[in-house]
Amino acid sequence: MTTPRRVLSGMRPTGALHLGNYHGALRNWIELQYEYDCYFFVADYHALTTGYEDTSDLEANSWRIVIDWLAAGVNPSVATLFIQSKVPEHAELHLLLSMITPLGWLERVPSYKDQQEQLKEKDLATYGFLGYPLLQSADILLYRPMYIPVGEDQVAHVEITREIARRFNFIYGREADFEAKAERAVKNLGAKKAALYRDLRRAYQERGEEHSLGEARALLEGNSRLTLADKERLLGYLEGTGRTILPEPEALLTATPKVSGLDGRKMSKSYGNTIGLREDPDAVAAKLRTMQTDPARMRRTDPGDPEKCPVWDLHKLYSTEETRRWVDEGCRSAGIGCIECKKPLIDRVVEDVTAMRQRGREFEENPDLVRGIIAEGCEKARAVAGQTLDDVKQAMGLGYR
Ligand code: TRP
Ligand code: SF4
Repeated sequence: MTTPRRVLSGMRPTGALHLGNYHGALRNWIELQYEYDCYFFVADYHALTTGYEDTSDLEANSWRIVIDWLAAGVNPSVATLFIQSKVPEHAELHLLLSMITPLGWLERVPSYKDQQEQLKEKDLATYGFLGYPLLQSADILLYRPMYIPVGEDQVAHVEITREIARRFNFIYGREADFEAKAERAVKNLGAKKAALYRDLRRAYQERGEEHSLGEARALLEGNSRLTLADKERLLGYLEGTGRTILPEPEALLTATPKVSGLDGRKMSKSYGNTIGLREDPDAVAAKLRTMQTDPARMRRTDPGDPEKCPVWDLHKLYSTEETRRWVDEGCRSAGIGCIECKKPLIDRVVEDVTAMRQRGREFEENPDLVRGIIAEGCEKARAVAGQTLDDVKQAMGLGYR
């Protein structure tokens, strides 16, 4: 009965996705797409904030990441896929929000100083880089989503998004007689829905039931009898005072398993220790055969400790319980060697990578299909984003023509 709740997430197109990206984010997207109304986009503007000097790969990387998603199982018939720079509303909302964003908020986001430290070779003392989290806020708020699936590293960005939304609603959503107007709007819902709205509001306000907030939002979303202003009042009335033009989203923290890279450090492009999602199977097998193991296990006869072995982290992701038991016992007793131990893992990873290559190839060979998916997604995204932007401009006094 209720409209499915919206979820939004993006990735920067910085090169081929690897197994770390798959287990850290993509796998989760693929699950969410069947449960929520998902919007997934290529954050090409965000790639420019750090990679502005050499943009020669930007276009190829954008198409590649889309194909990586499709190859991994993102399903364009249920999820909406688009490219940020093809939906100009992102840039416009970013500009409008910049008017109300205190500089200190941006300077305090941890990734600002961290990244400047880490990417010393690049000059990141730019206006665009400082604005990275605000652009992300615009990305998010345009779609008025319920949830933002992100890893730990992005939580601060969702947090600032919530602060920006709150500030926006506070500045542009204030009105005299708010309560009276909200009460009148509740009555306009009709007896049945009004009662449901009141129940859900109480459940959220008195018992903090987040799902009631979600259900109430969905109830309002799907109601065509409400005027826009009343809808915003009722959204605001759920949470506090004032109209809610931009609802606050919530981070949906992805349980991220540890994906170890070939050298034992976290799998990451910047360490050069990755296995690509669609890498050549022979190359994948070769990489795994030389992958770091428990450093204490120097000889075949030395017992090992899986907990100290990066290969074990991959077994946890790919192997059955039975295989894992065999590894654990064999390793600790020196009953099996590392080559032997890696064998079933290699088979499983190669099987997965091969399947993704296969699916990826079908899209590689049919670029018109990929363009069509993105064109359709951009169109759908623009319809949603355009509506929000209209509301924002109206609230900011820019509704005139
Ligand atoms: N900053 C995100 C990352 O590096 C990418 C991103 C941009 C994003 N805009 C977003 C993620 C909006 C979620 C929602 O991973
Ligand atoms: Fe790692 Fe397996 Fe070797 Fe043990 S036997 S050290 S788990 S690769």
